[in-house]
Amino acid sequence: MLPGALTLAGLLPGAQRGGYAVAAFSARYRACVRPVLQAAVDLRSPVIVEISQRELGWFGLSPQDFRDAVEHEARQIGCRVPLCLHLDHSWEEPVIHAAIAAGFSSVMIDASAQPFEENVRQTRQVVTYAHARGVSVEAELGKLPSTDQMETEGDEALYTVPGEALTFVERTGCDALAVSIGTAHGVYPVSSPRIDFDRLAAIRALLPDTPLVLHGGSGLPAATVHRAIELPGGGVSKMNVATDLEQALLRAMGGLARMTSAELDAQPPGLLARGLEAVYAEASDKISNFVRSAGRAVTA
Ligand code: 13P
Repeated sequence: MLPGALTLAGLLPGAQRGGYAVAAFSARYRACVRPVLQAAVDLRSPVIVEISQRELGWFGLSPQDFRDAVEHEARQIGCRVPLCLHLDHSWEEPVIHAAIAAGFSSVMIDASAQPFEENVRQTRQVVTYAHARGVSVEAELGKLPSTDQMETEGDEALYTVPGEALTFVERTGCDALAVSIGTAHGVYPVSSPRIDFDRLAAIRALLPDTPLVLHGGSGLPAATVHRAIELPGGGVSKMNVATDLEQALLRAMGGLARMTSAELDAQPPGLLARGLEAVYAEASDKISNFVRSAGRAVTA
């Protein structure tokens, strides 16, 4: 495993108890790993750096490439804040196994497109494999719609049923559960998406000890995120952010279109530096003003 990396099981219970969440940044590009880590270091915040199966394909990276980038950048900046290297939405075992072999400390099996029983079966199988290697597992129950087809394919929303969530966690032994309560991947077509806080509270009441994960963190108003975090008993303790980071990068670089990680590396250095500064600012804002994890790192 990446030296010093924590699992979700090591990182999230403290957040749940402490009334904050840990931002999970989908860096997407190798170059964006540094500003994300730097923001966490400067703000003394725990952080999760992640990439999904579909992102690995799109941006032209292997799990090993991504791990090497995280290890290299963490060393370069002397990163000592609690750090988790997480594989986001993935559904194929060879990818999950490759990430674990490369040193990811946590993986997500997303079998949420499958019927309940099949989701349980696939998740259970990944949990057995990952736990035997000291790696934690996030799973998903319910479906999030997607407006950019990056993390997930469909635009169907299916809210998580609290009673099913309880059965699912009991039967799979997953370490964290991604819930569908009204957020979406990508850009929101409305400025204030409706979040079903009652559903979140019901899930929390049934699963007091399971860290809950909110996907689709980009574009959410800060007040919505605070409410989701500050639920009695602890609300969500991991919030995923992808689109806002990439949009900040590309906007600051003059509105470039999405490209591969290697293509980003080949951009003129001055232009790239402007983009990475914007990523740093965006990650810092999410840490300080959204998930409120600044100052929560106990550094060595
Ligand atoms: P956004 O792109 O909406 O931030 O969603 C990210 C996400 O949930 C990754 O799993």
